[in-house]
This record gives sequence, structure tokens and C-alpha cells, in this order.
Amino acid sequence: MFRALSRLATLPDKLAFAGLVRGMSGQIQLTCASALLRSGAMAGLGQPATLDELALATGASERDLLRSLLELGVARGLLKRRGERYAPRSAMARRLAADPEGPLASMLLEFTSYHHEVMVDLPGRLAGEPPRDYLDRYGPLVARSSRILDHWLRDWVERLFAGGAARKVLDLGCGSGTMLCHIGSLGPEFRGAGLELDPAVAEQAREQLASADLGDRFEVHVGDMRDSGSWPSGPFDVITANQNVYYFDAGERAALWRSVSERLGPGGRVAIATSTAGGPMSSYFDLVLGSTEGCRMLPGVEQLERELVEAGFAIDRRERLIPGDSVYGLAAVRGET
Ligand SMILES: C[S@@+](CC[C@H](N)C(=O)[O-])C[C@H]1O[C@@H](n2cnc3c(N)ncnc32)[C@H](O)[C@@H]1O
Repeated sequence: MFRALSRLATLPDKLAFAGLVRGMSGQIQLTCASALLRSGAMAGLGQPATLDELALATGASERDLLRSLLELGVARGLLKRRGERYAPRSAMARRLAADPEGPLASMLLEFTSYHHEVMVDLPGRLAGEPPRDYLDRYGPLVARSSRILDHWLRDWVERLFAGGAARKVLDLGCGSGTMLCHIGSLGPEFRGAGLELDPAVAEQAREQLASADLGDRFEVHVGDMRDSGSWPSGPFDVITANQNVYYFDAGERAALWRSVSERLGPGGRVAIATSTAGGPMSSYFDLVLGSTEGCRMLPGVEQLERELVEAGFAIDRRERLIPGDSVYGLAAVRGET
């Protein structure tokens, strides 16, 4: 023991070594959690289950490997084992098991698959390879993971509509339809439409609206935000665009704001909630977005304001939605034309 300790003390670069071990430890925990999710084992842990029950539920024929995965989960504090039965232990694992397709689970899968691929491919991208079409495979996952901001976006949307006369809403790039569901839940007078580029995601939105009994008040159209000919007809009281302005460059956004202005009724408002440049994770997301076909690096909030003003809007709200982060809500009123 003493000898082993003294060898450790004389290890060259021991701080670098310790840093690597610390970093790998966090990475292994997330990798293990995502493997538990992907294999279906996490979903099978909605209640305590034995190895045999989990092998049956997941269709795993390699029982020894499944045992290793579960034991890794126990060693990393994700799972616990009581006798023969495994169950989630950490708060994160409990949430993943309770909602294996929810925003937390989807963000974990996005981080360990799509983002990981981006980082592996990054040298080529830095050398000038064009952005890749990751969203072809990961679009539906990204639509689910972006709901991780729902807690803040719901509050923003609620305050936006509180006490006003705005009733007819268009949600551009509506993703899986969560915001439309939330707007619809504010009262029976709210109705409108969503526009979504990805047909599979649009279908998710229709299903979500139908299961919230809102299918008759909100339609979901497949279309491109950049082509106002594919938008549902207006006029609308409010047009929202949440977590998607970074799909467009400044020129495309300028045209977008003009189309929004045309599709709004008198006194209509545009409301944007988005991650912007300058937050603690912005550079990370710039790498992911800047490597993905059809996406752009995050714009700054002042730049978005300038663009809206140039398109004839008057800014009436700018709120930082998450303390310490650069996720903003912006609302602007259409000027008289
Ligand atoms: C990150 S998700 C955000 C979804 C939703 N607005 C929310 O806040 O949860 C971005 C969505 O915008 C959609 N999108 C991207 N480019 C689009 C375009 N040109 N036209 C319409 N939708 C688009 C994507 O398919 C995706 O579902």
C-alpha cells in the first residue's frame, strides 16, 4: 500500500492525470445513463426489476453484458441494487426512468450522440468541410430535448398573453407543439396554427395537440419559415418563434421579420424566446450549430432587437428568462404600415 501510494506521489503530471480521471468519471456516468436509456433498461426500471426481468423487457440476449451495464449504473450512483432487484437511485436516474422520452432524457441522448458526432467530425469542419445534415437523424430528438426550456418558456408565454386581446396565434418552427398546447390551455378563446419544417416533428405536434384535446383549435402545417407562401393564412394577433432563430442567417431573419409583419393584424406582436450569444454554454452551442447544415451560430440579443426595429417593429419587452444565462424573451409590436 505504502509503495503504491509513493508511486502515485511521484507520478509525472499527476494533476493532469487527476483531471483526466475526474473528467472521465462524469463522462462515464452520462455514457452509462444513456446506454441504460438506449437499451430500454431505464424504461424497464419504472419499478424495481431483476436482471432476468430487464433482459426480457429489453430483449437483451447478452445477460452478462446487461449485468455489467446495471452494475456500472450501481457503481456510478445512478442505480441501487436491493437483493436481486435494481432500481433508480439518483434524482436524474429516477426522472429518466419515469420519462424515458422526456426532455431530460432527450437532452442526454442528444449530448451523447449528435453533439458527440459533431465533436468527432469537428477537425474536418474546421478545415472547411461543409456543415453536415445531423438533423436528418436527430431532428425529432432535438425537438424533444428543446422542451428542457419549457419551464421558463411557459412562464414567458403566460405573461405575454395575460390580460391582452391576443387570441389567434401562429407558432413558427413549433417543434413537438408544446407551446401551442400551453397557449391552448390558457383559455378556450385561444386558437391558431403551428408551422414545422420536419414532417415527423409536425406529426409529433399533431399527436400532442390531439391528446390535449386541442386538435380542433390548432392546426399544424408542414412548411418552411423562410417561405411565407407555405404559412397558414392570417392575420394573427401574435406570431411566436421559440428556439429556432439560429437556423437562419441575418439576411434570412430580415426577410422572416418582414413576412411576420405582413402576416400580423394591426397592433400584432412578434414574440421570440431564444438562446443568444454570450451565455456560459453559448460557445459550446456555437460549435454544434455552426457544424450543422441549416443552422447558424447564436445571434446576440441586441442584434435581434436591431433586426426587428429595422423591420418596423417597436420592442416592448426584453427579458432574461434564465438567471445567469443568455436565454431571452423578446416581444415587439408591429408598427403602423
Ligand atoms: C429547437 S426546436 C424548437 C421547437 C419549439 N419551438 C420549442 O420551443 O420547443 C426547433 C424547431 O424548428 C424547426 N425548424 C427549423 N428550421 C425550420 C424552418 N426553416 N421552418 C420551419 N421550422 C423549422 C425544427 O424542425 C425544430 O422542430
